[in-house]
Amino acid sequence: RDLYGPERTNSKGVEFGRHASLDAFLAEIKRSAQQSFKAEPLIDGKAASGSSRPVISPIDGTTVAGQVTEASPEVADRAMAAASAGFAKWSRTDANARAKVLQRAADLLEERRGALLHLLQVEAGKTLDDALSEVREAIDFLRYYAVQGRSLFGTGEAMPGPTGESNVLRLRGRGVFVAISPWNFPLAIFLGQVGAALMAGNAVVAKPAEQTPLIADLAVRILHEAGVPKAALHLVPGDGRVGARLVEHKDVAGVVFTGSTEVARIINRTLANKDAAIVPLIAETGGINAMIVDATALPEQVADDVVMSAFRSAGQRCSALRLLCVQDDVADRMIEMIAGNARELKIADPREIATQVGPVIDREAKDKLDAHVEAMKRSAKVHYAGEAPSVGTYVAPHIFELNKPHDLAQEVFGPVLHVVRYKADRLEDVLRAIEGSGYGLTLGVHSRIDATVERVVQALSVGNVYVNRNMIGAVVGVQPFGGHGLSGTGPKAGGPHYLLRFATEQTVTINT
Ligand code: SER
Repeated sequence: RDLYGPERTNSKGVEFGRHASLDAFLAEIKRSAQQSFKAEPLIDGKAASGSSRPVISPIDGTTVAGQVTEASPEVADRAMAAASAGFAKWSRTDANARAKVLQRAADLLEERRGALLHLLQVEAGKTLDDALSEVREAIDFLRYYAVQGRSLFGTGEAMPGPTGESNVLRLRGRGVFVAISPWNFPLAIFLGQVGAALMAGNAVVAKPAEQTPLIADLAVRILHEAGVPKAALHLVPGDGRVGARLVEHKDVAGVVFTGSTEVARIINRTLANKDAAIVPLIAETGGINAMIVDATALPEQVADDVVMSAFRSAGQRCSALRLLCVQDDVADRMIEMIAGNARELKIADPREIATQVGPVIDREAKDKLDAHVEAMKRSAKVHYAGEAPSVGTYVAPHIFELNKPHDLAQEVFGPVLHVVRYKADRLEDVLRAIEGSGYGLTLGVHSRIDATVERVVQALSVGNVYVNRNMIGAVVGVQPFGGHGLSGTGPKAGGPHYLLRFATEQTVTINT
């Protein structure tokens, strides 16, 4: 069976093992590195003025990735007004035409892959592997939403009715969507949000994370070039104050946000307290993601999957493993193998091909993680403390053992793994503790007993469950991604129902 449907396939990878393809790929990035990059507020496609600063790379803390001009709150207001004007025309553009524009944008992303990869590495500190996966995910999102949107937003669905009456249910854009995206997937999540909102017929004002405006600027220019009307898509780089101003605006018809639970709550409150229409928030936040490993699990596989889930991408994925729960009969052996595997990781400049763990995003993130590591060293058992380069914002992988799951009360967004042991007859206690955290994003289970797997999966209300494999890297159209509770409002990015959240429904009844 064609996994991706007849109209679409996910984008292709690169064979790193073949010299010719790897060399060509690296040359593609190198050529793009010669360009200079900038980000600026783009309203109706025109640059607005603002205060300017260099974007500094986390790789070494000195390389300038480009220059950003940040939007003032007044510029944010102008973007909202321009988007309101742009909505009227774009929402009436045929769904087929909107889908074609997204598909053209996906093709352009493929053409400009070198520049995107360069920025993902230098601006966001991504390894080559992660950068490539992210470009592919961005392309896949656009193509997936194009195909989904074409059928969903077409002529509508005829409903049954009495003779002499026609009933049609159709989907329409809501209005102006504010898209607030994170630095950890500054291309894929940015374009996933913007692409879905546009496909559904909304106009969009996009506010990228303040750490990663350059790649967002390039993505917006690509969408414009592909045919998204400049009046339908506006960019406002800036800090949280700009995001707050957008959310407070009276004309907001919806907000799509990926970031912290705390900010999602603030957005929710702001929307609720306005004397304006009641509008939806689509939020994807974090999680204290757990993995349960019982005595029937395959140790070599567990070691590999744990290290990948906890430390790859420097632990800066919302899906990453934070709390490993191991049955105590096998815990010593498992932990030893995991630590041994972690010791093999190469933590270095992400532009080196062999690097597996790059820097964390900025100094603030590093300071917070360093403080957590120091606190853990005092209060928990240390199973592994890695080493990291001292220049740039690197954080070495660490493994700590806690007494009970509750000892980890908050998401730690970096390469720090927390382990707890459980007795076979106390699995329920562990499950209760995980469920009690209130988060519900990803879950890993390693067990060869079907009944155990089923019991664990039933007990936990999480969005994405991975059994006997790693728990990161959801693939568009294959593992629709998103969580519940403190982890978000539930929509599944890269899934068949995502676009519905960006739309209103209208029933038209005609007495024929
Ligand atoms: N979609 C990403 C993943 O699955 C989010 O962190 O890893």
